[in-house]
Amino acid sequence: MNRRHLLSIQDLQAADIERLFQSARRLKRTSVQKRPLSGKTLGLLFQKPSLRTRVSFEVGMSQLGGQSLYVGPVELEQGRRESPKDLAQVLSRYLQGLVVRTFSHKEAEEICRWSKIPVINGLSDLHHPCQALSDLFTVQEKLHRLRGVRIAYVGDGNNVCHSLMEGSALMGIHLAIATPKGYRPDPKIVRGSLAAAKRSGGTLRLGNDPGKAVHGAWIVYTDVWTSMGQESERGLRKKLFRPYQVNRRLMSRAEPGAYFMHCLPAHRGEEVTDEIMDSQRSIVYDQAENRLHVQKAILLALLK
Ligand code: CP
Ligand code: NVA
Repeated sequence: MNRRHLLSIQDLQAADIERLFQSARRLKRTSVQKRPLSGKTLGLLFQKPSLRTRVSFEVGMSQLGGQSLYVGPVELEQGRRESPKDLAQVLSRYLQGLVVRTFSHKEAEEICRWSKIPVINGLSDLHHPCQALSDLFTVQEKLHRLRGVRIAYVGDGNNVCHSLMEGSALMGIHLAIATPKGYRPDPKIVRGSLAAAKRSGGTLRLGNDPGKAVHGAWIVYTDVWTSMGQESERGLRKKLFRPYQVNRRLMSRAEPGAYFMHCLPAHRGEEVTDEIMDSQRSIVYDQAENRLHVQKAILLALLK
């Protein structure tokens, strides 16, 4: 990897992703591991709650022989206790790497700007790169390819959608996105992804019709309708997003045998029914497991 930080998929090229996946495959196969990160400590600076990201980074770090240290929303006072500049400079004196989960992506960029140690984005309002990398790794495991794969994303044009869009565009995937009007992905990120898709041979289609997006898809992906930080909009969003629920009827528009994906946590009965979550086609727990393997590959690439 050329860059010292991983704030979004824009920090990577297709070759970096291929190298990360090679390393992740090796790490997933090997149970007895050396301790390449011995003596290193990774800080987890989280303004929002987390299950998967926190646990997988902590376990990953320990499996690689290093240590991790969690600093949560209470200690950070939601990021209001001190400036990102001071925080980054102080933590650079103690730690060898940082995973940050911030409300605002700008704040993650600001921490990066002042940090002397690698910074990994563990989710911001705009991006969730570790999730997208684990998702693409899972797709490759299941379908043995990425180029030419047809993915449909239905729901909110949010952080998870943005990173999936950027990753798909780099890897030559055909991605169709359906969101309600007013909930489309960020236009600047769309522009960048369209340009990247053109170079890779992938395509990106945006629309409002979930049935159209899912038609012929090999993978159907969704995420929560209300992300962390948007809780006050929950009532409105529940109404607006109802037609975007992934249920048996919507899945029947996809290719027979299409997989269902979700970054989790899922709100069962909202964006996805129990029936689909628990079906043979659901690969959500594989996605969650792969967070561990892919993030270990990221840690090795940035911290070793
Ligand atoms: N998918 C994901 O990032 O989960 P957490 O919010 O539990 O970390
Ligand atoms: N879009 C969700 C993803 C959680 C992993 C959120 O930001 O809350």
